[in-house]
Amino acid sequence: MTDSHIDIGWESARATNLENWEDRVPLHEEAYAIGALDDPDHLTRVVRTDLAALAPFLPNASIAGLDVCHLQCHIGTDTLSLVRAGARVTGVDFSPGALSSAAKLAERLGLDASWVESDVLDARAAVDGDFDLVYTSIGTITWLPDLERWAAQVAGLLRAGGVFYIRDGHPSLYSLDENADGLQLRYPYFGNGQAQLWDEESTYAGDGKVAHSRTYQWAHPLSEIINSLIGAGLQILRLDEGRTLPWKFAPRMIEEADGFAWPESERDLVPCTYTIVALKAGK
Ligand SMILES: C[S@@+](CC[C@H](N)C(=O)[O-])C[C@H]1O[C@@H](n2cnc3c(N)ncnc32)[C@H](O)[C@@H]1O
Repeated sequence: MTDSHIDIGWESARATNLENWEDRVPLHEEAYAIGALDDPDHLTRVVRTDLAALAPFLPNASIAGLDVCHLQCHIGTDTLSLVRAGARVTGVDFSPGALSSAAKLAERLGLDASWVESDVLDARAAVDGDFDLVYTSIGTITWLPDLERWAAQVAGLLRAGGVFYIRDGHPSLYSLDENADGLQLRYPYFGNGQAQLWDEESTYAGDGKVAHSRTYQWAHPLSEIINSLIGAGLQILRLDEGRTLPWKFAPRMIEEADGFAWPESERDLVPCTYTIVALKAGK
């Protein structure tokens, strides 16, 4: 953990983050309970939650038969859950190790998906075709300095009438000190373009340690996230804020049936996640 904010060029920050994400792949292959996917009916909890939130905005309340682009797909557990829900899915990630792990998992499970190695900020040019749904969830834009460029990729990947979905850690949550005894502000809510430097050997899943412990992340207030999507031409259909999240953000959090939460007396004080559904109009 660090409180440093620094000016760093994107290429250099990106290279540092990529080394870190490559190191996390074998650790997450162990920690993600991938074996659960051997049950042909199993979908990850993240995808089950997201499909329920998306249902009102989908034809027949389902992604069955839709073309879906999953940005920042990591080792493919969520991507392959989307395949199981009946979609044709392209997973995009900048980590060759993650994509290779995802492809192996797909083969083992007998599921079909396409995998594209690309920075999410270059995704439109890297991915063929356009999509009914662009999906990204849990652990996404904190890795990106430039939301205008990100939202332009999202809008470019959608066909007219297509829907964008994101759920992630709430920027208000990210401004809290995860190790404090109570809810205590520590990090800026408003980004100022500078990267936050983190130096952590551990990762959010399991007890393994990475060799490349530095990462750069960027704060994005909710207004910036929403306005980037509006600026790219999307219509906001829904904004929700949630009291639980799928990883243990702070040691004081308690595991509940639908994720990790603050102790009950604090649950109404601050949101843990936000969810946005947006439409590319025109059909
Ligand atoms: C926390 S995972 C999100 C996926 C999903 N929630 C999961 O846990 O499987 C974050 C992913 O973002 C990817 N990533 C980070 N920065 C990226 C970038 N600039 N372009 C593309 N992928 C990136 C990482 O390689 C990693 O696979």
